Amino acid sequence: MLEKTALITGVTGQDGALLSQFLLNMGYKIIAPTRLNPDISKLKQIGIQSNQNIEFVTYNKWSDFKLIIADFQPNEIYHLAAMSHVGESHNSPDKVFNVNAMWTIELLKATLERSPNSKFFFASSCEIFQNNLNHPVSENDPKMPTNPYGISKLSAHSMVQYYRDVKGLFACNGILFNHESTIRDASFVSKKICSEVARIVKTPGEPLLLGNIDAKKDWGFAEDYVKSFYSMLQQDIADDYVISTGKLHSVKDMVTHAFNALDYTITWHGSGLDSIAKNKHGETVVAIDEQYFRPLDNRFLVGNNNKAKQKLSFNNITPFSDWVKSMTLAEYKKQQ
Ligand code: GDD
Repeated sequence: MLEKTALITGVTGQDGALLSQFLLNMGYKIIAPTRLNPDISKLKQIGIQSNQNIEFVTYNKWSDFKLIIADFQPNEIYHLAAMSHVGESHNSPDKVFNVNAMWTIELLKATLERSPNSKFFFASSCEIFQNNLNHPVSENDPKMPTNPYGISKLSAHSMVQYYRDVKGLFACNGILFNHESTIRDASFVSKKICSEVARIVKTPGEPLLLGNIDAKKDWGFAEDYVKSFYSMLQQDIADDYVISTGKLHSVKDMVTHAFNALDYTITWHGSGLDSIAKNKHGETVVAIDEQYFRPLDNRFLVGNNNKAKQKLSFNNITPFSDWVKSMTLAEYKKQQ
């Protein structure tokens, strides 16, 4: 007899796959609603696609969740599914808002109506914060997003608080800073850097083309982060938590660490749009391409994770250099 049941939306994404793996190891049964013919490549990469304790359930429309939630009465619901590309959200604000905000409301409603004792986790984002905060941001710092992705996440985040404070659901927001892993999608910069660096070290040729390499992020390791989702739902009181490392690194730092991981020497030259990196033969291995720049991408937001450290024991944070190294080595191995 399995102890607990968790319903995870977005099970085929990075966080959904890693959270499933973590919960399966804890003895959970996973309910995995997906569209017809889902792409389960990430589940395959971590070897859990055929685990008998994952039950895939096909849904066609969001209202199907009412029945799914009513049928399974999950102990915990992790709402991770989203349109997660900040850059792309500028081109399709309506779709992003619909998926990220409206779907969250549907799920909150369905949970309250059909399984009010289920505990609810929402993957909120640091993109909700005001642009010019220049101190480590905490849960109650001012929110004023500057892109459609952040606007949609803040709307959903506020709805989670409403369903907690007014309707009485046990509902939590994880305010997530960037978090990466070997199963990250190639459209995110960490994966792009690690796989391109592996390619260049193996067979030098075309350089790695990046946008704003001076952008700085508070970047963590996704396997650490998903554990905190679980911890939030084990607390006595539902609450919101910043999940971050508290340290900033630039895109340029990540490139340097990735080349270092493969003992490949590079030197940086120029600045801004003229930045390039060369290898020891003088060949250009990194250059800038303006097509990867985004509007309003110049803030250095860092998270204050004190509350998560104190209440969730979010303490063993994998160092930046370690996970960049493991991602790069994994990409290098794949390309051999
Ligand atoms: N994707 C990408 N590609 N980003 C680049 C590139 C490039 O070639 N060059 C520079 N960057 C910069 C982006 O401008 C951004 O400042 C930074 O690298 C990180 O970009 P992404 O990896 O695409 O992540 P993100 O910060 O936009 O969004 C991720 O983190 C958010 C939390 O802060 C996503 O996971 C979001 O869903 C999440 O909420």
